Amino acid sequence: MFDIIKKLAQTYGPSGNEKKVAEAIIEMVKGKVDEIKTDPLGNLICVKKGTGGTGKKIMLAAHMDEIGVIVSHIDDKGFLRFSNIGGLPPHVILGQRVVFENGTVGVIWYEEDTEDKKNVKLEKMYIDIAAGSEKEAGNHVKIGDMAVFAADTISQNGRVISKALDDRVGCAVLVQLALNEPKTENDIYYVFTTQEEVGLRGARTAAFGIVPDMALAVDVCDTGDTPNCKPMSVRLGEGPTVKIKDSSVISHPMVKDRLIDAARKNNIPYQLEVMLRGGTDAGSIHVTAGGIPSGGVSIPTRYVHNTAEMVDINDVENAVKLLEAFVK
Ligand code: CO
Ligand code: ZN
Repeated sequence: MFDIIKKLAQTYGPSGNEKKVAEAIIEMVKGKVDEIKTDPLGNLICVKKGTGGTGKKIMLAAHMDEIGVIVSHIDDKGFLRFSNIGGLPPHVILGQRVVFENGTVGVIWYEEDTEDKKNVKLEKMYIDIAAGSEKEAGNHVKIGDMAVFAADTISQNGRVISKALDDRVGCAVLVQLALNEPKTENDIYYVFTTQEEVGLRGARTAAFGIVPDMALAVDVCDTGDTPNCKPMSVRLGEGPTVKIKDSSVISHPMVKDRLIDAARKNNIPYQLEVMLRGGTDAGSIHVTAGGIPSGGVSIPTRYVHNTAEMVDINDVENAVKLLEAFVK
């Protein structure tokens, strides 16, 4: 499981540039699913037909894209100005290392005369790629190129620390589930979506194309178990969550109840999730194609949208078990 998470987390894939992640996933699941296709927005759809051909269509969605930065200007000294791809808290990216698709590394810093350093705006920040001039910088990057956090993936005390666990850990859960080949009469659509971080975009067209009977977003959620954090009843290591609500969806009662049933009957630990901020692919799936009963299973994750996010490997493994019980 850790190896799958690490491989996917270390693959380059900011929103709109998820191709390498899709290729890595195809390598992992080919032979274990009946059909693999990519739709016009880049969503990777892997279908496992149910036994008997009488079952329902269940869509499981995890997004392939990760947050990052996009180059908007190169100045005459070779410094890059940039905008965000997805939600980037400015004060946490200061001093971070980023890497472009071609391997070019940059350091994010800010104009030294910035007065309110706590509320520094992206406009006051720049990326230094160790170039001495606009021309030299232009040899490595151009306007519109995207970079992602450069940070490794490690395992320690049963927990994983890595960049991009949002949502490569969700992709890893779906890959592992596909490898387990759960026996069910239902058709399972493993959907690896694009452009979630910029507005849940890929999932919308994927769901419209499939029109599933039921859908789950498999993503990360915040926790409420770190010093002096906001109150939230989710803790690392106490099980995957059954989503009740986030800012994009109120889970369908039938979907939510089935998940809870599946967890109880199989003695799988779970937690109930009410996420105060942030949405998931379920947000766009449930309002597609006449309406699709949707919900979510999340991996409790500390420090979401930072260079070092943290999950507990037991939660990841239990998420696989929970989904396996659910699709049956
Ligand atoms: Co995210
Ligand atoms: Zn996510």
